[in-house]
Amino acid sequence: MTEGRGSRGQRFFARWYPSVMGRAEDAGQAAIRARHLARAQGRTLDLGTGNGFSVPHYPPAVTELVMVEPNPALRDQLHRRTADVRARAWQVVDGDAYALPFPDASFDTVAASLVFCSLDRPEAALAELARVLRPGGTFLFHEHVRGTGLRRVLQEVATPLQVRVADGCHPNRDFLGSLRRSPFRVEDVEHLRMPGGAATVVPMVVGVALR
Ligand SMILES: C[S@@+](CC[C@H](N)C(=O)[O-])C[C@H]1O[C@@H](n2cnc3c(N)ncnc32)[C@H](O)[C@@H]1O
Repeated sequence: MTEGRGSRGQRFFARWYPSVMGRAEDAGQAAIRARHLARAQGRTLDLGTGNGFSVPHYPPAVTELVMVEPNPALRDQLHRRTADVRARAWQVVDGDAYALPFPDASFDTVAASLVFCSLDRPEAALAELARVLRPGGTFLFHEHVRGTGLRRVLQEVATPLQVRVADGCHPNRDFLGSLRRSPFRVEDVEHLRMPGGAATVVPMVVGVALR
């Protein structure tokens, strides 16, 4: 239900996410972001920027950082931390992964961290990211994904609750499967564990795909 600025679920998520994920950042995820996002350059789109954990890690080679975030409460938080942006120019945009408000081939780099778990049509969103990325451009992905064995069982059991409390986050998503069916060509994938993450979001893939 939407009341005021954003749905109840969006406002609840914006209240707890920064502090809970902040523990993973301090435990090592910030270092993972810094190493990974060092590859970003030129005009760069960050999809689902949230409260901006990735923002300080984009290098000065990024000429413009465009942060797309549909949750108004998180956009407010983002506006408060734009002093952390190292790119020469930046904008915070209300937008939706399925219909990005940008022309074809208008970015050199597109990036998403911990976003595809919340998207019910990941392949449609990947096609949209591919549309706005120039040919030869780089897609930087950083996603928690479904695991195997007992972890997978736990993820399946936890999914209905996690979807409710974490604004649509599905811990059981096969992101790499979706990526392989998308217009992108996977160049590099690391299988990592989210440092300090809850048990359902530990398995992660961090990597690079090309348009
Ligand atoms: C788990 S948070 C991740 C935030 C941030 N990228 C990070 O790494 O901490 C997921 C983000 O995806 C955003 N999101 C959800 N649905 C979206 C959509 N359809 N289009 C764009 N962003 C979306 C949420 O509002 C939220 O900010």
